Amino acid sequence: MSQLLHEQNIEKAHKWIDEKKMPVKQGKMRQKYHFMAEAGWLNDPNGLIFFRGKYHLFYQYNPYDAYWGSMHWGHAVSNDMVHWEYLPLALAPSEHYDNHKEGGCFSGSAIEHEDKLYLFYTGTTNYGDGFVQTQCMAYSEDGIHFTKYENNPIIKAPKEYDEANFRDPKVWKHGEYFYMVCGAKKDELAQALLFRSSNLTDWEFFNVLAESRGELGYMWECPDFYPIGDKHVLMFSPMGVHERTTVYLVGDMNYETGKFTYSVTGEIDWGFDYYAPQSFLDDKGRRVIVAWANAWDWMPWWKDWGPTFKEGWCGSFALPREVRLCEDNMLQFFPVTELETLRENEMNVTDVVVRETPYEIPLSNGNIYEMKLEIDLEQSNAERFSLILRADAKNKTVIEFDLKYQMMSFDRNMSDGWSTGKTKSPLLLEDKRKLSIHVFADQSSIEVFTDNYKTNHSCNVFAKNNQDKNYIAADNGKIFISHLSTWELLLPEFCR
Ligand code: FRU
Repeated sequence: MSQLLHEQNIEKAHKWIDEKKMPVKQGKMRQKYHFMAEAGWLNDPNGLIFFRGKYHLFYQYNPYDAYWGSMHWGHAVSNDMVHWEYLPLALAPSEHYDNHKEGGCFSGSAIEHEDKLYLFYTGTTNYGDGFVQTQCMAYSEDGIHFTKYENNPIIKAPKEYDEANFRDPKVWKHGEYFYMVCGAKKDELAQALLFRSSNLTDWEFFNVLAESRGELGYMWECPDFYPIGDKHVLMFSPMGVHERTTVYLVGDMNYETGKFTYSVTGEIDWGFDYYAPQSFLDDKGRRVIVAWANAWDWMPWWKDWGPTFKEGWCGSFALPREVRLCEDNMLQFFPVTELETLRENEMNVTDVVVRETPYEIPLSNGNIYEMKLEIDLEQSNAERFSLILRADAKNKTVIEFDLKYQMMSFDRNMSDGWSTGKTKSPLLLEDKRKLSIHVFADQSSIEVFTDNYKTNHSCNVFAKNNQDKNYIAADNGKIFISHLSTWELLLPEFCR
């Protein structure tokens, strides 16, 4: 255990970041209002917590390259989840259990206890005979500088479990005990393992919280578990189920037995670039989730790490979303209302009839914007309609709403000359009278919310700035747009 080496490795990383961050700031594809690291590679959000009056966000981070490796924990704080300030890195690889170039300090969570901030993470190493993942802890008095616990690791994979697939601890308190859920793999199937502790350092295995019989894959990454209304939610990112990247289960928890039984399953997001969401409870009682907006190399549609690699960075976060439970126990995911503070140059139109000729959406900035749209279904008879976004004469991203066959798709085959693939989902169309759509476009991503925030698609799109035309077009009939509002979104200085 060497706190000194830990501090030195953080310092070394900062020297490197300071050298690299200027060119990244000038990157053409750099996000304008979605969270990104200063330079290098970012994946999962970690340790989300509202602590001493601020939102804290940690993230899987490789400061040294624009690709994955040697995981550190980056750290940022915010008063509103929109404007972020970078803090010193919280964790760097430094110990035998987390110091490996293809390992490091993997994903995990944070909890406040007796006015200290505790981080739980997975130490990943390789002693020469395959990867070994264990659960580890670090603590801090000031919420900025962290010391790794001297008796790490605190939990090893239980017998018969794959020690290369035992990761991503999420910790919470219920009653007298602390609980931790981790993703695990046994006999080629995914499980969420539940552990229990009365002091945060000594943990006992409690039960298998929930498991896959194959239908939900062979490994669950980043499991998260929380109460909502009178129900509980287990969410995770499954490996081995094709295009399902973020699943939620809604059901009931029995803390006597440590078993979660569920009756509803759903998708948090159907897009290609929405992974590893983590939740936290904020000071206003909201359950908020943040996810990594990217895809792994093992996913069927993955090509390579994308055009931002050349600019010295890779990865951003999807917008923070508030989770709400519906009467039918499905979940809704609303972009947090704080995002409204970014709105500028509002434009509104009402009562527009659109047929096959594309209608150009009024926007003061056709690249970086928010759009809300309400279609009056009773006055529409088209079989389908499309949003044609970030377009020029050659390229476009097409989001289609098929009213006849109740489908939605996000097609990026012509988006930018690099992106490919088309995500698809059913459209619920529960409200027979209207369909509302909410879109956020940033420099290199588009998030679309519909079906009252139950059906959402988020994908990265690397459109150039001259692709600034945005249209709506109907097919086989007309649609009646009762309201259309657009805003340019302005974040004057990102995180600085
Ligand atoms: C999910 C994940 C986690 C792991 C981390 C490593 O995206 O694979 O399971 O802890 O990323 O960076």
